[in-house]
Amino acid sequence: MDRRTFLNTTTVLGAGALLGMGALRWPPDVGIAERTASSGVDGESLAIRAERKGLLYGAAVNWSRLLDDPAYAQAIIDECGILVPENELKWSRIRPGPATFEFHAADGLIGFAEEHGLRFRGHPLVWHAALPPWFHEVVGPANAEAILVDHISRVCTRYSGRVHSWDVVNEAIYPAHGRADRMRVSPWLEFLGPDYVELAFYAAAEADPDAVLVYNDTRVDYATPEHAARREGVLRLLENLVASNVPIHALGIQAHLWGHESRFDPDAFTSFLRAVGDLGLDIYITEMDVTDQRLPGDITRRDQLVAKVYRDYLDAVLAVESVKVIMTWGLSDRYTWLKGTRPRRDGRAVRPLPLDDRMVRKPAWAAIAAAFDAARPR
Ligand code: XIL
Repeated sequence: MDRRTFLNTTTVLGAGALLGMGALRWPPDVGIAERTASSGVDGESLAIRAERKGLLYGAAVNWSRLLDDPAYAQAIIDECGILVPENELKWSRIRPGPATFEFHAADGLIGFAEEHGLRFRGHPLVWHAALPPWFHEVVGPANAEAILVDHISRVCTRYSGRVHSWDVVNEAIYPAHGRADRMRVSPWLEFLGPDYVELAFYAAAEADPDAVLVYNDTRVDYATPEHAARREGVLRLLENLVASNVPIHALGIQAHLWGHESRFDPDAFTSFLRAVGDLGLDIYITEMDVTDQRLPGDITRRDQLVAKVYRDYLDAVLAVESVKVIMTWGLSDRYTWLKGTRPRRDGRAVRPLPLDDRMVRKPAWAAIAAAFDAARPR
């Protein structure tokens, strides 16, 4: 039985009952051009500047923050054309038990996006991280395929037709694990072998046929041996998927960048991007931020250095026509995962995102705006 036959015979239990959210579809009626920017300094929003060039700009968001913090919610509405949940669609959040699903926060987020005329990305369907506590007690080689397909079918069916793009598989490449194919030795790989990747894409295509299906990965940006090995692994994986006619449409590049890292080689990086584009895939920058952990304490200087990293990186990637979406991992320094994961030794607040912690536009915002303004239309 090939993958398609298998999936066509898979019963999606209760899928009809899960479609209680109505028939809203994207793109919604309210276009971003009808909205005006009100956050920080004057000037058109990042969303409008991006849209003018045939690009989409947006950010990762938190549902609880959107509910509790009107200034943050307004900044998201003002600057973004597309949203992605930072955590609300991860297994750890939506799978409280092996037989139960919890969609409250994800429903809220997609409803917020639709209400404000924003597109919505789903992230991630398959990942080695953020698995729920029950996972390792319940999932093994005998049932992993059925559980993987059931998860993807239910989640994608629930939001089918309303999602711009899905990160179907996240971070499958990990050269340090020593495999010839450079794949990560994750639970999914151990239970199902490397074919779990194509299995996931077939399941997503079946359940949400109009969405863009994305393979997303990290640490491929710099001219270092580690990042070069990851680029090779990612490119080989994509080549194999495309050669097998697997329904994959784009590569997502996380782009969690380092403010102090000087080993960025635009030529080496863009030749990788062009090789991906030559496979017929689009490229999305999915999680961009710039850690200032090791930059000087002075805020003016620090903001300039962070802004320069944004500008240099975006100038390089936007020169490649297959790059269609730019997302930052958060919008305001008020809420960034780097507070916890990359704190500064001097105890000062981190400043990795386009808006500061009062929702005011920073030099990083201006750098992104200028890169969008300078980009060729696509
Ligand atoms: C991060 C979130 O930002 C944190 O809030 C959470 O604690 C851990 O995960 N790559 C990814 C994202 O694909 O899902 C991660 O998000 C950041 C790295």
